[in-house]
Amino acid sequence: MAKLRLVHRCSDCGATHPKWSGKCTACGAWNSLIEDVEGPDDSLVSLAAGMALVPAGEPAPIDSIDASIGAPVATGIAELDSVLGGGLVPGSVTLLGGEPGIGKSTLLLQLLAAAQGKTLYVTAEESAQQVRLRAERLGALKDSLWLLPEMSLPHIVRAIDDVQPTLVVVDSIQTVADPELGSTPGSVVQVRGCAHRLVQEAKRRNLPMVLVGHVTKEGGLAGPRVLEHVVDTVLSFEGERHHALRLLRAAKHRFGPTNELGLFEMTEAGLVGVPDASSLFLADRRTGVPGSVVVPTLEGQRPLLVELQALTNPLSGGVQPRRSAQGVDHGRLSMLLAVLERRARVSLAQHEVYASVVGGIKLNEPGADLGLCLALVSAITNTPLPADLVVCGEVGLAGEVRQVGHISRRITEAARLGFTRAIVPGNSPDTQSGIKLQKATTLSEALAAAGLAHEPSKG
Ligand code: TYD
Ligand code: MG
Repeated sequence: MAKLRLVHRCSDCGATHPKWSGKCTACGAWNSLIEDVEGPDDSLVSLAAGMALVPAGEPAPIDSIDASIGAPVATGIAELDSVLGGGLVPGSVTLLGGEPGIGKSTLLLQLLAAAQGKTLYVTAEESAQQVRLRAERLGALKDSLWLLPEMSLPHIVRAIDDVQPTLVVVDSIQTVADPELGSTPGSVVQVRGCAHRLVQEAKRRNLPMVLVGHVTKEGGLAGPRVLEHVVDTVLSFEGERHHALRLLRAAKHRFGPTNELGLFEMTEAGLVGVPDASSLFLADRRTGVPGSVVVPTLEGQRPLLVELQALTNPLSGGVQPRRSAQGVDHGRLSMLLAVLERRARVSLAQHEVYASVVGGIKLNEPGADLGLCLALVSAITNTPLPADLVVCGEVGLAGEVRQVGHISRRITEAARLGFTRAIVPGNSPDTQSGIKLQKATTLSEALAAAGLAHEPSKG
């Protein structure tokens, strides 16, 4: 029998350390090491943690394999279906990750209520009463939705046998435990072991399952990253707690592309899909204000118009000026400030700089660079950009404006919302959208096209 030894495992990255320390040397996370056991071969722990000792199948020629089980079944929640590429695949296990309070339980209760046939909600965190009250508020009270308040894995598996549901939700995987595994609930051994076991049960019954996984502030799935390898699909549910907007993305998807974005709004009556997000993002926009620009961005296949804002504030000498970025990458902002200074002679060295994306969305694509540059210059020169203008393009270190993907899709979305002018990279193809394209190959050309003076005003 293999001997197990005590290790300290990082709950963020899964790395093991012989000794406890405050910081994981593998991924840099703080206070993430927890006690765990490990065999001479780590796979032994997985075995002990729920892998069946019976073989999962027989070898067979590849062309004899029936692939038809892979067809997704629509969930009835359009935004979720578009992220999943059609719906949930029978027998698949999906992990829904997100920070506490973001709306995971709400979304899944709505999913179960929308599903055809009998469904089972395993609540391992909240009481049955709490879930019922929420279901009442969501209009999700249906006699086909079954509820099980349970934390013990064997009981959950037995309930699946009894209820014979067509869809199961386990909320959350971190609070489910298998007494046979010995380790404390929430430990890596427990979370991984229970997930393994649930995956087997899902596959065996050809039953789709969704597991909730809480995410730490740093963004990792609390408990093991290893879970991501165990399941078929990893969805992340994001958003700012103080904004109603929620974004659903696939971080991993065995059955389709991972670049679709689903958008929801948290309302009194639960989560409501937002098919027209651009209108929502621009609803509170005030035109004629310096530092504001509208950027046509792309999330997966989906064009989105978002407002970017910049504010600059002159400082009198000596102090290190503050740079604050919300929704845009801090490093990217610093780089663009340097490019503006060196390539367009716009210096913000003596100014505090604040940049923010409106609506709680994060702009990770370089296509927003040019918009951010123009917003910064608009702010420092106190010159509003034209209200009917959108701006897109990547900015290189030489001050060149570089091409971005799917320009016509972005411009078409801008036209739909009534914009009539666009500053775009020099070699952009012409579009039939009716929008006047102003092509710029350098940052200076783009500033001129936007009617922004080169020299910053003093004060
Ligand atoms: P919840 O689904 O419990 O989040 P999670 O499971 O990710 O922890 O949602 C929590 C928040 O959502 C809570 O602060 C209240 C809010 N909420 C609404 O605004 N409207 C609703 O209809 C519901 C059910 C929740
Ligand atoms: Mg919850």
